[in-house]
Amino acid sequence: MRLNYTITLPIALVLAFAAIITLGSPGSEGTANKAQPKNAVENEGCLRCHGQNRYTYLNTESGDTVVKRMYQECTINRNVFYSSIHGNFKCIDCHSEDYDTFPHPGRLRMETAYTCNDCHADDPMYAKFNFEQITTDFEASVHSTKHSKEFTCWMCHNPHSYVNMARNEKDIHKTIEYSNSICLACHANKDQYQLLTNKDNPNILEKHEWLPNQASHFRSVRCIECHSAISDSTLVAHNIQTKDKAVKNCVECHSSNSRLMATLYKHEIQQQRNKAGFINSGILESSYVIGANRNYYLNILSLVIFGGTLLGIVIHTSLRILKRKKNV
Ligand code: HEC
Ligand code: HEC
Ligand code: HEC
Ligand code: HEC
Ligand code: HEC
Ligand code: HEC
Ligand code: HEC
Repeated sequence: MRLNYTITLPIALVLAFAAIITLGSPGSEGTANKAQPKNAVENEGCLRCHGQNRYTYLNTESGDTVVKRMYQECTINRNVFYSSIHGNFKCIDCHSEDYDTFPHPGRLRMETAYTCNDCHADDPMYAKFNFEQITTDFEASVHSTKHSKEFTCWMCHNPHSYVNMARNEKDIHKTIEYSNSICLACHANKDQYQLLTNKDNPNILEKHEWLPNQASHFRSVRCIECHSAISDSTLVAHNIQTKDKAVKNCVECHSSNSRLMATLYKHEIQQQRNKAGFINSGILESSYVIGANRNYYLNILSLVIFGGTLLGIVIHTSLRILKRKKNV
């Protein structure tokens, strides 16, 4: 009976919801389906200049309309912005409303940006993210300790494009790619890296040459799997450590109690625990696969050893039998 409810109730709800939608919009046009982003009209005031790589303005002294190139780092892609986590915002929710004048007043450059915690800390709505612990972990990280002031959360969480994949994306390879792109934005980009330091930017591919099938590994795990200390109370570990603390030992992942269970697969595991009260065998299987990959070679080796031992015993026994026969 209970099972029936859990199946029929959602279906009934979906049907009711669909009915409400169709009834509620008898005369609506096709365009109404694609809702405009919440503050699209107001934001166009900014995006008419910042939304593409060129902008125009009226030179009030000459009366000419001038076309100029917009700096790449000041260019914001509309689609990317509106599908980002803060895409419902007005630009001036985070920026001074005095930006509505052009040229922008020089003093606005001195404006201090909000931090994530200005809006998110101690807010029960966001408790599940544990911003407080993330902040503590980040402050202990190599980035923060070496560049405390200038290395902010925004360095990795682009204010105009950040999306939350780890919690929402079903395809784990997309999450991995997104997460790694955040790191590679600096670690594979000299200009970005050099905003922070004059040191040479080490070549990431060369520095990981010891990892077999490197390209395949970079598609299957995130940088943070090897570079962050595992954190129990956050989903995404933010304490990135110096290179000497990085994971190099294959068995940390290639084993049935893989480190990945506490990192990459953590969300999936939590979800399934919530739903079923126990871990779905699918996860265990995937961790088994990771283990099995390593064991494939080990298995062959152990087969060889086992076979060898067996052969040894057979030879030994036959020899003894032969010997005994001779002695008789
Ligand atoms: C007429 C074109 C134009 C419009 C409209 C415009 N901007 Fe700008 N904005 C620019 C240009 C050009 C720059 C880079 C040069 C500069 O800093 O003035 C810039 C720079 C900025 C910067 C970076 C300032 C810095 O720290 O160097 C911010 C932030 C900004 N704009 C926000 C806004 C916001 C928010 C709006 C809408 C309320 C807006 N802009 C509207 C042209 C424009
Ligand atoms: C959630 C807050 C938030 C929203 C919404 C937001 N911004 Fe920003 N923006 C920031 C922060 C923070 C920075 C500084 C980033 C940094 O220091 O790395 C910034 C930087 C900028 C810059 C300068 C980029 C640079 O690298 O110099 C421009 C231009 C800009 N924003 C324009 C806009 C426009 C236009 C919109 C609306 C479409 C907008 N912003 C919406 C938070 C926001
Ligand atoms: C100006 C205030 C403000 C700032 C600054 C800000 N946020 Fe937000 N954030 C919000 C609000 C409001 C929402 C809810 C947006 C919505 O529902 O449309 C939100 C949503 C989110 C969500 C999604 C929550 C969910 O339930 O899915 C995440 C994750 C998030 N923010 C992370 C960050 C991070 C990381 C930073 C800093 C890099 C940051 N925010 C900075 C106000 C802010
Ligand atoms: C070195 C890069 C880096 C820095 C710095 C950084 N983060 Fe993150 N953060 C990430 C990555 C990577 C993810 C995972 C993105 C994804 O897959 O959704 C993430 C995810 C998050 C999430 C979502 C976690 C969840 O449970 O869904 C929050 C919230 C967050 N970061 C907050 C912060 C705050 C607050 C700061 C500053 C104190 C910060 N981050 C600094 C890289 C960084
Ligand atoms: C905004 C640029 C930027 C981003 C984004 C960034 N890093 Fe870094 N990272 C640096 C810089 C600069 C250093 C060098 C710090 C120093 O030694 O001065 C560094 C250092 C490191 C180190 C320490 C190397 C050593 O010598 O011990 C590791 C590991 C690392 N980053 C991993 C990551 C990972 C993983 C991510 C993504 C989650 C990431 N970084 C994102 C700029 C960045
Ligand atoms: C399988 C584990 C693993 C993965 C995945 C991994 N790293 Fe590493 N990384 C290491 C180890 C171990 C070292 C130290 C290598 C050494 O010292 O020989 C290292 C070194 C580094 C260094 C320091 C380079 C130097 O010598 O100065 C940086 C920066 C770094 N990694 C960034 C990244 C980034 C960015 C990614 C994701 C694209 C990544 N790592 C993925 C294990 C990993
Ligand atoms: C951070 C975790 C992690 C570490 C450390 C790690 N691996 Fe892997 N490795 C993986 C994952 C995940 C896969 C992909 C498994 C899959 O797709 O089923 C993989 C795949 C492989 C594969 C199969 C590659 C292919 O796609 O054909 C080999 C071989 C391998 N690893 C060997 C190693 C060796 C040797 C080391 C140590 C030098 C190592 N791994 C370290 C996580 C790791």
